[in-house]
Amino acid sequence: MSRPGPIHRLLVGPDEYPFVTLERRARALAPPGVRVIHFGMGDPREETPGFIRDTLRGAVPAVSSYPAAVGRPELRAACAGWLTRRFGVTLDPERHLLPANGTKEAVFLLALAVVERGQDRSTIVIPTPAYPVYEAGARFAGAQVHHAPLTSAAGWNYPHNPTGATIGPGEYRRVLDVARRFGFWVASDEAYADIYFDERPHSALELGVENVLALHTLSKRSAMTGYRSGFMAGDPRLIDALRRFRPSVGVATPDFVQQAAVAAWGDDAHAEEQRRRYAAKRSLLMDDFARRAWRIEGSEATFYLWARAPGGDDVAFVERLMRVGLVAMPGSFLGEAGAGYVRWALVPTLEECREAVTRLDAVTDPVAR
Ligand SMILES: Cc1ncc(COP(=O)(O)O)c(C=O)c1O
Repeated sequence: MSRPGPIHRLLVGPDEYPFVTLERRARALAPPGVRVIHFGMGDPREETPGFIRDTLRGAVPAVSSYPAAVGRPELRAACAGWLTRRFGVTLDPERHLLPANGTKEAVFLLALAVVERGQDRSTIVIPTPAYPVYEAGARFAGAQVHHAPLTSAAGWNYPHNPTGATIGPGEYRRVLDVARRFGFWVASDEAYADIYFDERPHSALELGVENVLALHTLSKRSAMTGYRSGFMAGDPRLIDALRRFRPSVGVATPDFVQQAAVAAWGDDAHAEEQRRRYAAKRSLLMDDFARRAWRIEGSEATFYLWARAPGGDDVAFVERLMRVGLVAMPGSFLGEAGAGYVRWALVPTLEECREAVTRLDAVTDPVAR
């Protein structure tokens, strides 16, 4: 196929997926022989805790069977248990919960499950800047997309990615009151709920399940991006619809991954340890940026730092970074409202972060540029 077809256009519009563009630019600009340090994509380089890996290994069966899309009862129970410990909410694992192969597919497919094509109720409201999959899913489902800009003046607000900002129960209540009054769904992507530094981020589920679907993942909390394991929790009407829809799509989580997930959701100590690691990297970069008078906004939770681009042009600034072998994400790649900002994913190791900080001297020094 020499030209992108209609599905490609539907999915990504005229633009390339941001991470593909970023990778291509980095390859072109990074000096030969220099090890590139990636702050671009939110893929943690931390080790998956040993007990989780061991559980997975021990769960691989001699005879393999198709897993069920509804998941193992003990997985749904483990997810519900974590929600109770973490947010103080009590859900029924049978009626309120479904596993997902990570939240990316869940977000994408959710639009297909809820959009009524050709109906008045086919608008999906998406914040900008935001995780690009919200828009890809909405477009593919044939929804009209309405962008709700997040701004510096309003403190950025949810979602955490890319801004790292958080919201409180009061703001959730405002959104949910309107949703319940007018009858629309609220998808609350809470992928980073366990990566925080001061106040613990809240969940929409704290205000009840009606009209809500919250999405959670082990990718960030437990450094398990490769396992593809998360879950959806919320309104039983929506869970029921998804329970009927998802088996046809082939997104059931493999049983041995589910067993590893049971171990991961059942333990909070390793999540605490992950937070400690991110906190060390965060302080290192925040102190360094402060020394350079680079302004940080949002960034209260998640492993992202959302910083003003020195000089104002986020793409030009990231290209300067690439010339010293560093990659970060231009805010404009994640939506127009992100222009002028750069997202730093604190995913390299602490040692790599130290190395990055020394390389930044060459970026800020006008003589070296
Ligand atoms: C806001 C947000 N939601 C969802 C995801 C998807 O995560 P996963 O599919 O690994 O659960 C990501 C990944 O970076 C994300 O940033």
